[in-house]
Amino acid sequence: MDLYEYQAKELFARHGISVPPGQVAATPQEARSIAAELRAPVVIKAQVKTGGRGKAGGVRLAPGPSAAEDEARRILGMDIKGHTAHTVLVEKATGGFEEYYAAYLVDRADRTLLAMVSSEGGMDIEEVAATKPEALARMPIDAASGLDLETARLLASRAGLPEDVQDAVAATLVRLWEVLVEEDALLVEVNPLACTSDRRVLALDGKITLDANAAFRHDHAAFADGSDDGGLEARARAKHLNYVKLDGQVGVIGNGAGLVMSTLDVVAYAGERFDGVRPANFLDIGGGASAQVMADGLEIILSDPDVRAVLVNVFGGITACDAVANGIVTALEVLGEGARCPIVVRLDGNNAELGREILGDAGHPMVRVVTTMDGAAELVAELAAA
Ligand SMILES: Nc1ncnc2c1ncn2[C@@H]1O[C@H](COP(=O)(O)OP(=O)(O)OP(=O)(O)O)[C@@H](O)[C@H]1O
Ligand SMILES: [Mg+2]
Repeated sequence: MDLYEYQAKELFARHGISVPPGQVAATPQEARSIAAELRAPVVIKAQVKTGGRGKAGGVRLAPGPSAAEDEARRILGMDIKGHTAHTVLVEKATGGFEEYYAAYLVDRADRTLLAMVSSEGGMDIEEVAATKPEALARMPIDAASGLDLETARLLASRAGLPEDVQDAVAATLVRLWEVLVEEDALLVEVNPLACTSDRRVLALDGKITLDANAAFRHDHAAFADGSDDGGLEARARAKHLNYVKLDGQVGVIGNGAGLVMSTLDVVAYAGERFDGVRPANFLDIGGGASAQVMADGLEIILSDPDVRAVLVNVFGGITACDAVANGIVTALEVLGEGARCPIVVRLDGNNAELGREILGDAGHPMVRVVTTMDGAAELVAELAAA
């Protein structure tokens, strides 16, 4: 689960990392009164779970309460890379600082946790890494032994930070490491990590990804929000569906992660011949595949505006294909008008014939039954491209 900046800063503060005082506002009036309480120039920051907010105009300085209200009015509702800003963070503007970069992440390629620190913060770190790699210190950190103050100091010095801030930055790096470990995060990133002229170090931005597998150890539930911009994914999660949104046009439902993964492949492959259509999602409805689960799955997929055709690919095992076919028929009844685009069904395995018969007899106008996986992928790609 990705956190909003204000939530990341909440966790930073809990672990003793300095952040500017501030609060979240959902209306321009709220932004005004927060700014009035802070009695200082403020920064109004769009709360969206994507990067590049500053460049998109989602981070603005406001010298006083009325400017804060105006800027909040401009930013609230703003679209940043497909994410709508429903709230803004109103926080005290820090004056005169240098911008550094600090991050911990899981480096899967090297099977380690990785620390990255740079003296060149604020801007795209990818650019720094590409054009000035010597300004980005990278160090693998052993998960078991962790990051001590000495190593943190070494990191700060390798990153080329001015000597007189290395100690303060190192202390912050150790606290950020605590955030990663104690909150079970997969990513902790601070850009910029600011250092003021009086050598105070504070996090002006924050990105945290929490490991959902460790959710049971924490009280992080408060961070989940219904207004999540991964709207479809959030709704799917609420229905306990294993769903991942992708960027194509063909909705895919299957049973078993392996089958769904290969379905994505054959759809993408077939799509090359039909306008380059691609899978719109991953959805594994698991072994049971009851009518209700099928209906829930179809409902989520069909409410994705990008979807132009759907492929249901089921291999009957313990749950036989006739039960799955009945599930599809019931699901379509539940959906009614919601079944708005062609649905190609491929059933194989236990009682496949019977399943196909059931779908044939139901004669739903949107349903097309195909016996092979390649044939189904071909047809669904063609329908999605039509
Ligand atoms: N409280 C603050 N006081 C002063 N300046 C700030 C404050 N917060 C942010 N800034 C300035 O605005 C810039 C952009 O802010 P921030 O890093 O939060 O957004 P961003 O980098 O555009 O967003 P993202 O990290 O999501 O791409 C910072 O690099 C910093 O210079
Ligand atoms: Mg930033």
